Amino acid sequence: MFLWGTATAAYQIEGAVAEDGRGPSIWDTFAHQPGKIRDGHTGDTACDHYHRWPEDVELMAAAGLNAYRFSVAWSRVLPAGRGQVNAKGLDFYDRLVDALRARDIAPVLTLYHWDLPQALEDEGGWMNRDISGYFADYAGIVAERLSDRVEWWITLNEPFVHLVYGYALGTHAPGRTLFLDALPVAHHQLLGHGLAVQSLRAAGAEQVMITNNCTPVWPATDSPADLAAADAYDTLHNRLFTDPILIGKYPDMSAFGTLDAVQDGDLATIAQPLDGLGINYYNPTRIAAPTTDLLPFDDAGITGYPTTAFGWPVVPDGLRELLVTLKSRYGPALPPVHITENGCSHDGLDDRFRIDYLDGHLAALAQAQAEGVDVRGYFAWSLLDNFEWAEGYHQRFGLVHVDFATQARTPKASYHWLRQHLSQH
Ligand code: BGC
Repeated sequence: MFLWGTATAAYQIEGAVAEDGRGPSIWDTFAHQPGKIRDGHTGDTACDHYHRWPEDVELMAAAGLNAYRFSVAWSRVLPAGRGQVNAKGLDFYDRLVDALRARDIAPVLTLYHWDLPQALEDEGGWMNRDISGYFADYAGIVAERLSDRVEWWITLNEPFVHLVYGYALGTHAPGRTLFLDALPVAHHQLLGHGLAVQSLRAAGAEQVMITNNCTPVWPATDSPADLAAADAYDTLHNRLFTDPILIGKYPDMSAFGTLDAVQDGDLATIAQPLDGLGINYYNPTRIAAPTTDLLPFDDAGITGYPTTAFGWPVVPDGLRELLVTLKSRYGPALPPVHITENGCSHDGLDDRFRIDYLDGHLAALAQAQAEGVDVRGYFAWSLLDNFEWAEGYHQRFGLVHVDFATQARTPKASYHWLRQHLSQH
């Protein structure tokens, strides 16, 4: 059965950051530092989903969705990241999973959507190799409790974005500005993924994948310098996180430095067989030769397309292009694909813009299927307007509007459109 869902992430919707024994995460720390988040917003309350989840599950059921991708907050389960387990944290997700199943909604659980327990950041965060093992221990603890009822397990969400925004540029938590010295974060996340797959399987998890953020890379021109820059960017954004997982080796990273963090046996651990590959697609990236010596590429920007409230270009065919490229790049090594996120930021309840966005991307997905790509699911980002990281509550990605003063939920036109669409599929 094709999975139709929406996707969310713990810190973006839950709130209740100091309730029932939850420990602080890097996002609590970061959001409370002045100047980090637009207008000083934080996820302290967010959509108050921690208390309002029954209403949110009903919204999904009423839309006719048959799957829901959510993330577990590591620091609810292990307040210090390792050691003492917080039973109340696990109980919360246990209740949510049961409620989803009672409504025939398949739970798709992401273990890590960027909210590292602060205690582990204090030990070096993902720059510290030991975090990979702690992540696998945490994965096993969650799976021991939920593997009998969770349909799909996703280890990491977008390790590329976490590497670049969190550790290289510092615009996301933990706010470190290591630039190219951040590369060990890529390897330690991938190692954590591989170790987590092993502990998930040992605890009875049946279907496991990772979610990568991928982008078609367009060279600005066909000059050799632009082509080389585009190739370097493709390597960093796409291949660094997918080659080791699917074909057991790193791409040539020489444009960026050396991957000193890799030890014997790591690649075999990383390349665990998977049941699926999660892909988050938002837009293509156009790349030109570098104009500084900081990085081996420049982002040349894309013009000539509609843009979302965030300013991101809307290029539905980029989704088809991406999927077809993955298939030709990896061949039989590519497992079935799920689009684990796709969506746009747009204001207003009458969101024709979002309807057109969804319609266009679903047509592109169907085209990719017609071209032979095995796609098994689509998750719209997002169910609710929520805490959009450094943008706070300014970017509204929800099918359902949230009034953050009252927490009232109001389905938008796009929600009704999707319900109608699903009733016909
Ligand atoms: C992330 C989401 C985020 C969305 C829109 C993805 O990179 O996984 O957490 O809200 O993009 O920016």
